[in-house]
Amino acid sequence: MTDTNKTSGKKRVLSGVKPTGKAHLGNYLGAMRNHVTMQDEYDSFIFIADLHSLTTVKEPHVLRELILDIALDYLALGLNPDKTVFFRQSDVHEHAELTWILNCLTPMSMLELAHAYKDAKAKGDREINVGLFDYPVLMAVDILMYKPDIVPVGKDQKQHVEIARDLAGKFNRLYGEVFKLPKPYIPEEVAVVIGTDGQKMSKSYGNTIEIFAPEKQLKKQIMGVVTDSTPLEEPKDPLKDNVYKLYSYFATEEEKNSLAEKYRAGGFGYGDAKKLLLAKVLEHFKPFREKREELKNNMDYVHEVLRKGAEKARITASAVKKEVFEAVGLNI
Ligand code: ADP
Ligand code: TRP
Repeated sequence: MTDTNKTSGKKRVLSGVKPTGKAHLGNYLGAMRNHVTMQDEYDSFIFIADLHSLTTVKEPHVLRELILDIALDYLALGLNPDKTVFFRQSDVHEHAELTWILNCLTPMSMLELAHAYKDAKAKGDREINVGLFDYPVLMAVDILMYKPDIVPVGKDQKQHVEIARDLAGKFNRLYGEVFKLPKPYIPEEVAVVIGTDGQKMSKSYGNTIEIFAPEKQLKKQIMGVVTDSTPLEEPKDPLKDNVYKLYSYFATEEEKNSLAEKYRAGGFGYGDAKKLLLAKVLEHFKPFREKREELKNNMDYVHEVLRKGAEKARITASAVKKEVFEAVGLNI
């Protein structure tokens, strides 16, 4: 079978997002927004990495909800299933199958250096599962199987893309050229989006601003952004302030300058700045929130998109699986 998804002559982009929690500004600015805009220029593959979530999410009903949340989020943000092959990793069994084959080529020592495993070990976690240890190999298959030209990810995923590249090289040297060496693409300006406490925004730090949270909750998250104790009447340095930094991700140059002037003039408090930030975030996400509500009332459509996406993904996946089986000698 040939890869009939490859018709356009465009370069291919591929990325995945793990359903482990509600999407936040870091996920949006660092990943999801780029995925949506890239679909116009590239032959695009985006998938929900639900097999990866299994290393940490152990409640079936939570996992189900998180998977559908991501599907809704992406479709609401403008991912177009006619332009992007949008699917669920677990719907395409070749991901798990080829992971075994790459496992047989992967030195343990390589995975011992991978950051998720290293961090879990450093924390003294006694129940590290084999899935977590093997996480980078599954991710390598996710990437290599679709032969993308670029893989847009946040900085934290760079090591994983490099492992995929190393494994592709190793496979090709041993069995002949099958895989394309992938390149990570990390947009610098949003490489690390800060959270409400000024550290990197992350579900695991509890410092997120969730893009589709109910308005009341969003307000609470934004009002909780950590600021210093400069009194209201005194001038403030915008460049040192978290509210200003978060505002800058969305504001125009003019809006940024206007807010910076207010900070420097004094008589303008952080509470006022937070109100501006909330209004900005609400304005930015208004059309997406509306679209998401609409989609929520039409879950049959969402399931259908994922089903059709998996069908298209399988065309590529099964073609590459065949190549791999032939290369390693499993086709008799
Ligand atoms: P989290 O740290 O909240 O668990 P994930 O690891 O699920 O987030 O990240 C999903 C995607 O969003 C990845 O591509 C990741 O690099 C990106 N991302 C997550 N947090 C940020 C951030 N604070 N700044 C930029 N990108 C981020
Ligand atoms: N590990 C990635 C993350 O935590 C998700 C992911 C899984 C991924 N497979 C991928 C990203 C393949 C890019 C390509 O964000």
